[in-house]
Amino acid sequence: MSEANELDFGPLTPLIGVWKGEDGVDVAPEPDGREINPYFETITYAAVGAVRNAETQNLATLHYRRIVQRKSNGEVFHDETGYWMWDSAARIVMHSLVIPRAVCVLAGGGYAGEKDADGRIVIDVAAKIDDDCWNIIQSPFMQKNASTTDFRQKIIVGNGELSYSEITLVDIYGTIFEHTERNDLVRV
Ligand code: HEM
Repeated sequence: MSEANELDFGPLTPLIGVWKGEDGVDVAPEPDGREINPYFETITYAAVGAVRNAETQNLATLHYRRIVQRKSNGEVFHDETGYWMWDSAARIVMHSLVIPRAVCVLAGGGYAGEKDADGRIVIDVAAKIDDDCWNIIQSPFMQKNASTTDFRQKIIVGNGELSYSEITLVDIYGTIFEHTERNDLVRV
């Protein structure tokens, strides 16, 4: 790995830093339907550096940690970590995430300069259980009882603001459940 400060992080550049959001909403599966959980969270993105694969692919990489707490009682009820990677030659963004339910996702998507009306960068990544490129790995228990079959995430970042929405399809309790989150964060 080489020095992070010489690197081009492309669309990931504005993510670097610490972010807080107070108005998160999670919709989670329950045996008798769903649960709506208001939350607050802190996400920290830190530059890792350059990674070279097979002497040809050059990635600019960020590590992140995301801590999510219930508004009702402050309990940490979601803890997530992973990497965001930018392949500038292929113009591909990759997001690897791990959650302590024994579920891992490697989501990816192209980035061709997408911005919203306010000039903020718009990043879309996705993974599917049967996709050839971007995939999901989970424990035998989760495969059998609460299988994640699809993950999609949109991030809009710029001007000191970060908004995201994400949808995880979970095959649980005899149905395909749309487990969703969204939040708006500001850089601190
Ligand atoms: C802010 C983000 C998230 C929050 C707050 C959250 C919260 C929750 C909650 C409250 C449950 C129900 C747990 C229970 O009933 O005991 C749940 C279930 C689940 N979540 Fe998440 N989740 C988040 C993101 C994710 C992501 C990104 C994934 C996977 C990519 C994921 C995968 C699952 C799975 C597979 C279950 C089913 C397990 C079960 O209910 O027994 N979640 N989540």
